[in-house]
Amino acid sequence: MTPWPTQAGRHHSGMRRRYSVKKTRVAFIGAGQFANVFHYPTLSEMDDVELVAIADLNPELLSRTADAYGVPGRYADYQEMLEKETIDAVYVIMKPAPLEPIVLDVLSAGKHVFTEKPLGLTIEQTRRLAAAAHAAGVKTQVGTNRRFSRVLRTAKDLVLERGPISMVVGEFHKDMESEQFDMEVMHSDALHVLDPLRYLAGEPVSVHSHADRWYRKTGWAHSHNVYSAFMRFDSGATGVFLANRQSGTRFERFEIHGDGIVAYVHTPDIARIFTAGNSDPLEIHGKDLAG
Ligand SMILES: NC(=O)c1ccc[n+]([C@@H]2O[C@H](COP(=O)([O-])OP(=O)(O)OC[C@H]3O[C@@H](n4cnc5c(N)ncnc54)[C@H](O)[C@@H]3O)[C@@H](O)[C@H]2O)c1
Repeated sequence: MTPWPTQAGRHHSGMRRRYSVKKTRVAFIGAGQFANVFHYPTLSEMDDVELVAIADLNPELLSRTADAYGVPGRYADYQEMLEKETIDAVYVIMKPAPLEPIVLDVLSAGKHVFTEKPLGLTIEQTRRLAAAAHAAGVKTQVGTNRRFSRVLRTAKDLVLERGPISMVVGEFHKDMESEQFDMEVMHSDALHVLDPLRYLAGEPVSVHSHADRWYRKTGWAHSHNVYSAFMRFDSGATGVFLANRQSGTRFERFEIHGDGIVAYVHTPDIARIFTAGNSDPLEIHGKDLAG
């Protein structure tokens, strides 16, 4: 196995800047579970971010989170927070059901917005939010995080060094008993594989697909729970998408095929890159690339 040169793969944004930068003033709406596991700890470590305020309906979660991260502004009413605080961007982190009116208010206040996936309960709701963001002229981002995986991005770059990507594969399987958020598995969860396929190969221009409901231990699934699709992308590449939610275990994998090169990627941990005539793969480890 060939060791991967750690520093060579490090992205420039991971390097510390010597000059002082204006801090982005960030507020949160939501001090719940996922936000506390990922977003509060991540943002609190960034030198160019200041956590200025939190709004949450739950007073205990509000004060516990604000205390943990030293956040001065504390509100039950997010509208009051938007009016009183000087804020550049707002993280709205909660289940998708209450999201739409809150995100619309944040957008009409002219703030940049980060939300978790799924952005909306339906495609129509998601389109309404996208149109409002466009009209507000602010930056928005949704937590479809696989496309930012260092191993996936590095693997893509290495394949592209030899020429265009000809074919991609994405699969994401789980043993899942119930639909998340009472919505289609595709919208809540399987999108975690479709989004990176778009990052790798472009926008789909044709899709041949099957979506099925397969029986589970607890009864018939409300949502489709077994998906397969063949796609052509606007780059000319073709792709395969597979997602099974009555499978034996959690399993997530991508393939990126190019000219005499293929990357087999298990995000976020490892990519193995094989080149023609060389049976010994180059291994890239996510922990080595992390900034
Ligand atoms: N990207 C990923 O890999 C990934 C993984 C797991 C979960 N998620 C996403 O994380 C999200 C769930 O986030 P969570 O676990 O923090 O949710 P949560 O339900 O634990 O917390 C939501 C918080 O928002 C507060 N809240 C609700 N309405 C409010 C309002 N009107 N004003 C102020 N506060 C309000 C609630 O009191 C609660 O504390 C989901 O969208 C899920 O898809 C993403």
